[in-house]
Amino acid sequence: MIELSKIKFEDIDFLFNARNTPEIYKYLFNPNPVSLEDHKAWIKSAIEHEKPIFVIKYNEESVGMIQVNSLDKVVEVGLYVLPSYSGKGIASKALDKLKDYLKINEVEEIVARVLNENNASKKFFENNDFKISEVVYKYKI
Ligand SMILES: CC(C)(COP(=O)(O)OP(=O)(O)OC[C@H]1O[C@@H](n2cnc3c(N)ncnc32)[C@H](O)[C@@H]1OP(=O)(O)O)[C@@H](O)C(=O)NCCC(=O)NCCS
Repeated sequence: MIELSKIKFEDIDFLFNARNTPEIYKYLFNPNPVSLEDHKAWIKSAIEHEKPIFVIKYNEESVGMIQVNSLDKVVEVGLYVLPSYSGKGIASKALDKLKDYLKINEVEEIVARVLNENNASKKFFENNDFKISEVVYKYKI
């Protein structure tokens, strides 16, 4: 069974280890490990400001994280699932639960920004009925 659990200070070790797993951070927009100090500051601020950040629980075990950046009309989603649990539909079920929560909070649209080389994530969002709406080109000087 999949459940979303609002982030708590006790989640610090799980989230620190998960966030610093190379297969996960290589696809994040900050593709580097984070320090424990920065991580503590992030979790403290998230709890204090009651940010919509959730640990994904699979049969009561912590296996991933899903979050949105605000509860405005248009929000941006971010998520990960531990590599040992990927491909089981866990992220799709977590996204369904998140959609219910966003509906209650009158959010109208979810945006997902994905690195072009992140095939698993592209397939994931396409499977979940997200449509590509823009392509960003970059040129390194
Ligand atoms: C993207 C991610 C959250 C998906 O989690 P998940 O629990 O495996 O998702 P689901 O099982 O619900 O669906 C995964 C889909 O991606 C596919 N997939 C998994 N690994 C893949 C890979 N390496 N290449 C292509 N597709 C892949 C699965 O086959 C599945 O599609 P299918 O059922 O049609 O086969 C997970 O891979 C992840 O945490 N990746 C690293 C962090 C990340 O990229 N986050 C998103 C940043 S925008």
